[in-house]
Amino acid sequence: MTAHATHRLPASRVENPRDAPALRWGIMGLGSISEQFTTSLRTQTRQQIVAAGSRTASKSADFARRHGIPRAHGSYEELVADPDVDIVYIGTPTSLHHDCAMLAMRAGKHVLVEKSFAANPLEAHAMVAESEARGLFIMEAMWPRFLPFMQSALLAVEAGLIGDPLTLTADLADYNEYDPSNYMFSPELGGGVARDRGIYLASLSSLLIGPASTVSVTGLQDRTGVDAHLNITLGNGRGGYSQLLASMYVNAPSNARLSGTRGSLSFDPPWYLSPRLTLLDSRGTVLDSLDSFLRRDVDAFCYEAAEAARVITAGGISSPLMPARESAAISETLERILSSARASWSSATPAHHD
Ligand SMILES: NC(=O)c1ccc[n+]([C@@H]2O[C@H](COP(=O)([O-])OP(=O)(O)OC[C@H]3O[C@@H](n4cnc5c(N)ncnc54)[C@H](OP(=O)(O)O)[C@@H]3O)[C@@H](O)[C@H]2O)c1
Repeated sequence: MTAHATHRLPASRVENPRDAPALRWGIMGLGSISEQFTTSLRTQTRQQIVAAGSRTASKSADFARRHGIPRAHGSYEELVADPDVDIVYIGTPTSLHHDCAMLAMRAGKHVLVEKSFAANPLEAHAMVAESEARGLFIMEAMWPRFLPFMQSALLAVEAGLIGDPLTLTADLADYNEYDPSNYMFSPELGGGVARDRGIYLASLSSLLIGPASTVSVTGLQDRTGVDAHLNITLGNGRGGYSQLLASMYVNAPSNARLSGTRGSLSFDPPWYLSPRLTLLDSRGTVLDSLDSFLRRDVDAFCYEAAEAARVITAGGISSPLMPARESAAISETLERILSSARASWSSATPAHHD
């Protein structure tokens, strides 16, 4: 590497989502994220959405009509049996991801499953085993991973531009009014901040700092029983740590910064859709920056779909950008986060929404 090259952020190799080969998609579970994912695919890719599947026939018919989707199915079983569907996108609550993914794979379909990949590590490993046994693709829809600026950040770390990464600080925290109809407040539907927000942070840490070998958490539990506020420290066993905040009790700016022995990477907020990635030297002098023109989630979801389409068309069953085995490992980390948090409940004053 030349001296000049060490001061520049590497260009990402992520291709335009519109250039990805087209697959035929079926959408399972027609809630809020499926609306956004469908809009992103329809407006920003050549992917074909050929079927929608809901537990309720009228809901499916309405979704299909609004999005110009040719077929509407009144059950998930009917959707996965549709011979025209290549890949099923699963937008159901986390507690159902395993059963929905198994249903799809047993019908011979590839799977893109919303985060969190599964409700627990046992289910996550079973999903990976099913994919490998059947030779079918499965991937967690961890959308920030697939964005060009995030891949540039990863290339910068791999090229040693910041030396050994030592500290990642990142937060994902928004105040949520108590709403019993929101799955976030439901232990049964896999709610809580670990699986809704901590998952993004644990995945970012896994990408930039490496797999978590140590986990330490202090946290607060909501009256509904879900985890509501988590201060998380993940160690990589080589002196690197991530300090992460996931919360539904406080608001935070969605900052992220990765500091290493030779410099830092700073993600302008919100880090998951960062408008600017900056490379700084060890004194804090700006060396380079990269602007991103993605402004809305709906501009971003098309990248994960394009990645799935490229890998499947090339005959792969796991994406190198978000390997299914890494999703299972992150599921283990989430379980450890929750068990460390539970050990801290007893000494914490429970917080309540008034
Ligand atoms: N990538 C992201 O940015 C993002 C953002 C938000 C959420 N998510 C993830 O996406 C998943 C869904 O979240 P969402 O916000 O879209 O939830 P949502 O609006 O509640 O939609 C979930 C859908 O799942 C289906 N479902 C099946 N069984 C259900 C049950 N027992 N209770 C409730 N719904 C059931 C329903 O569809 P039918 O009635 O049509 O069957 C429902 O509309 C979660 O895993 C969440 O973590 C991802």
